[in-house]
Formats: sequence, C-alpha cells, structure tokens
Amino acid sequence: MDMLKPLAIDNWKDVINKECSLEAIHALEHGKIVFLPHLNFALSADENNLLSPTLTDPKRKNISFNPHSDEMHGARGSVLQRAQLKILMQRYCQQALGLINTLFPAYQKHLIAGRTSLRTVEISGRRSSYKKDDSRLHVDSFAATPVNGFRILRVFTNINPHGVARIWQTGEPFNTVATRFLPEIPSMSTVEQHLLRLFKITKVLRSPYDHFMLNIHDRMKKDMAYQQSVIKTTLTLPPKSSWIVYTDQVSHAAISGQHALEQTFYLPPTALYYPETAPLFVLEKMLKHSLTLKDKQVVSAAVE
Ligand code: SIN
Ligand code: FE
Repeated sequence: MDMLKPLAIDNWKDVINKECSLEAIHALEHGKIVFLPHLNFALSADENNLLSPTLTDPKRKNISFNPHSDEMHGARGSVLQRAQLKILMQRYCQQALGLINTLFPAYQKHLIAGRTSLRTVEISGRRSSYKKDDSRLHVDSFAATPVNGFRILRVFTNINPHGVARIWQTGEPFNTVATRFLPEIPSMSTVEQHLLRLFKITKVLRSPYDHFMLNIHDRMKKDMAYQQSVIKTTLTLPPKSSWIVYTDQVSHAAISGQHALEQTFYLPPTALYYPETAPLFVLEKMLKHSLTLKDKQVVSAAVE
C-alpha cells in the first residue's frame, strides 16, 4: 500500500474541494499519512536561532507547549529566547488547528488541541530506554496520559533549515498489529489502575483501552525479532513539507532527522467518518467487551 496520500496545498488556510477532503479523510482514517509536500512553516531569521538543540533540556526529546494552560516545558535559554519559543509554538498550534478545521470540517466541533512540540534534537543516535525509543516501530500510547479511546491525530512539519529530510518507517496495518500482540496481553488489574493514579503515574485513571494500547506500544518496541522481521516502508519527509497522521493507528518509527514541529489533537472515535477504523472499536471487536471508562471525560486530563 502506498502510505502517503499527497495533497497539493501550500498555505495553512488553503481550502480544498469537498471531493478532495473526502478522499483525504478516507485515506487518513484508513491508516495512510496525508502528505502536504508544499506546506512549509516559515521561521523568521530570529526564530531560526531557536533551533539550536542546546535550548532543549538534555533529558527530554523536545520542548512542549500546552495551549490550554499556556505553559511550556523542556526549554532552556534566556527569558527572551523562551518567550520567542512560546510565540513560535503558539503560532504553529493555531495554524495546525486552522489546517485541520479547513481540511476536515466535520472534525471541527469535536477536536481537542493537545501539546505542541518542537523537536530540535537529531533522532539518529539519540539514546533512550526501549519504551522511549521512537526509532522502533510502534503505535502511540502514553503511559501518563490516558485517552479513554480518543484518537491521537498529529500534524508534523519538517522545518530543517539545512535541507535534511526526516526519515520514517511504517509497519503493518493496525488490525494486523493488534491481532499479533493482543493475545499475549493480560487483562488490566483494577488495583494497578488505582495505584497508578494514587502515585500520580497516570494523570487520571487508566482505562482498559489505554492498558491494551500501552501494552501493544511497549511490546512492539521490546520485540526485536518483530522489529527486524516485519515488513517496513521507508518514507522520506523532506524539509518544508508537512504531514497528518493518526499515530495511534499507524505503526511508525522515526529513524533520522532534526528540526520538526508537531501538534497533537484528540478526537472522540465516534466523530470519525469511519468509526470502525478507530483502534478502540477494533480492539473492542477483538476482545468482545467495552474498553472505556463510562463515567469520566478522561481525555480532558490529557490537555491539563
Ligand atoms: C514519533 O511519534 O514516534 C516520533 C515522530 C517524529 O519525531 O518524527
Ligand atoms: Fe510515535
């Protein structure tokens, strides 16, 4: 399968016709990456100076910005540099939100903006524990941030000023990944669920959905035989291009590259055009029981 669904827009406010939008939605929700080869995010000369990896806390992969609280984490540098970084990320957040709203209008009233991130550290050679190693194929699921079945939709832009592409790999479709890993995952223990919350390891109660997704994420990354043998597609994502992807669904690995911006969105799976493609419903169908916590708006915590 060709993993990329190209869209020829070159402006964050570009509108596309209904037919193009429906085609892009179909591709996106069925596990493709909507690729915008001409959609750049221009930086001013001053902002280019903010791309030094020394401005990122060496213990972290990126600088992140929370558009709800206006807080930024992981940034070093002077007060002025940090203020400029924040303005840069606010602008990216706004443009990415505008992009999704114009490309996919039906998402608009359900979309929740999550973190914005600036990724200035070279991926290749970055050392980390296997769970944090994004150069291994995985689907996104975050230990501290349960989503209770909400989708994780991400917009990326390669802002590398030296002409260097970001290299990704993609693996098997979500159904195949789930079929492979689900049988070996034990059910969630409610004691563990409450202890995680009590000790603030999770921000809110971890739902059974998050338990299974996190296990799939961790087990994919841990299994080196799987990593080596699974059929992969290599994607070259050039500078001055952007892409949109459901990273909870698309098995992906970031192999190399430096300098990207990323915006996360959360979306209830019922807001999809093709809800049957949501990891939540795929897993529920396989396990034959519900995986969400009914009484909680759990995803609100994801943006706290
Ligand atoms: C990831 O989501 O695994 C990392 C993507 C990237 O930084 O390019
Ligand atoms: Fe990822």
